[in-house]
Amino acid sequence: MEELKVGICGWGNVATGLFSALENNADIIASNSGAQFTVSVIGARRDNPKCDPGNTPIERDIFDVIGHDIDVVVELIGGVEVARELIIKAIKNKKHVVTANKAVIYHHGDEIFKLAKENGVRVLFESAVCAGTPIIKLLKEELAANRVSKISGMLNGTSNFILSNMEEGAEFDSTLELAQKEGYAEPDPTFDIEGMDAAHKIGILSALAFGTPLPPKDFYVEGITKIEKSDFTYAMDMGYTVKHLAVAKVDENLLELRAHPVLIKLDSHLANLKGVRNGMEIDTDLIGKIHIAGSGAGQESTASGLISDLINLANSKAINDQPENNNITSYKVSEFSELVFQYYFYIEAEDKPGVMASITSLMASKQVGIESIVQKEELDENCVPIILITDPFKESDHSELHKELLTIESVKNIRSIRIESN
Ligand code: HSE
Repeated sequence: MEELKVGICGWGNVATGLFSALENNADIIASNSGAQFTVSVIGARRDNPKCDPGNTPIERDIFDVIGHDIDVVVELIGGVEVARELIIKAIKNKKHVVTANKAVIYHHGDEIFKLAKENGVRVLFESAVCAGTPIIKLLKEELAANRVSKISGMLNGTSNFILSNMEEGAEFDSTLELAQKEGYAEPDPTFDIEGMDAAHKIGILSALAFGTPLPPKDFYVEGITKIEKSDFTYAMDMGYTVKHLAVAKVDENLLELRAHPVLIKLDSHLANLKGVRNGMEIDTDLIGKIHIAGSGAGQESTASGLISDLINLANSKAINDQPENNNITSYKVSEFSELVFQYYFYIEAEDKPGVMASITSLMASKQVGIESIVQKEELDENCVPIILITDPFKESDHSELHKELLTIESVKNIRSIRIESN
């Protein structure tokens, strides 16, 4: 039986989750993998009252873990620069690395993979994207014979949790607090709600599927903070809901990379994935569309992904499979401003004659077609919401149109959300 000696760096929620899962599921792990894992050392700046490491040696300086007789360093300290330093030191000391740290792979992936290759070791990162939901190995191994043309999905559990709850009538702030309490949200939740967490993940998936660099360039990122509860009501009246979608898509030699809120059809697969779940749709040439969904956050799901990497390593330590960005020159990243979308506009305006006409004639002067326009029930202070769906037009004209609509005297407030076509 293959034995792998493991050094865990970090002793927070994720690390203790890994330690417990290795212990509690040792029988199933051994029978499924034919491998045995021994935690030989833990790098913990301080004890964690939630987990007793038994007799496992503890290093207070996480860098000292690398000096032990171990095969693999599991980096679970989080953050970017110290984590990078630790990973690089481990690689130079000929240790394999397993990490759940999406930010370090996003920012330094190319450097890390190159160095790993030069040193004949492997860096595995299944849990960095959607925790244990198996997307990395799916792309690298199971779909290796396919040309992937699009990956789209909800890659941030906290955002999906907040939006699903808002769809049911909950408030943004209280739902975010709940996500923080449940441990889904990042230590700094702005990474979740401003879209960066999803951007990190789609950036990594794009590197695997399309060979884009890490860190990627030319990336449009927007979070969910401007979405209002009423947007769900209006969207649902028209057969849509609101999701935060991350997209990497190729068309001929052009690549789109973006993460932002969208209206998507209520009857689509992704629209129906609620709560903290992550879900993706992958378009491939040989299998067609594939859907994968699962828990993308939390101690246990992350432990599952980390252990799958350890098993992979135990069974194939010698493989030199570090991602290579050999397609970099094949794809040109599209300017976001050149992309074309239909848009949902929420326009709050005074309820007086002529306001609809002013809006529609401004749109006409900008050559923006209107698919539908509806005036909804009056709000306070003699204001009405006008809900408008445009025909497709270029992103570069969108912010200009937004600004000009606000110059109409009776218009008090505007929001808009892109509509994702199928
Ligand atoms: N904060 C992340 C999320 C979890 O909400 O999806 C780990 O990536």
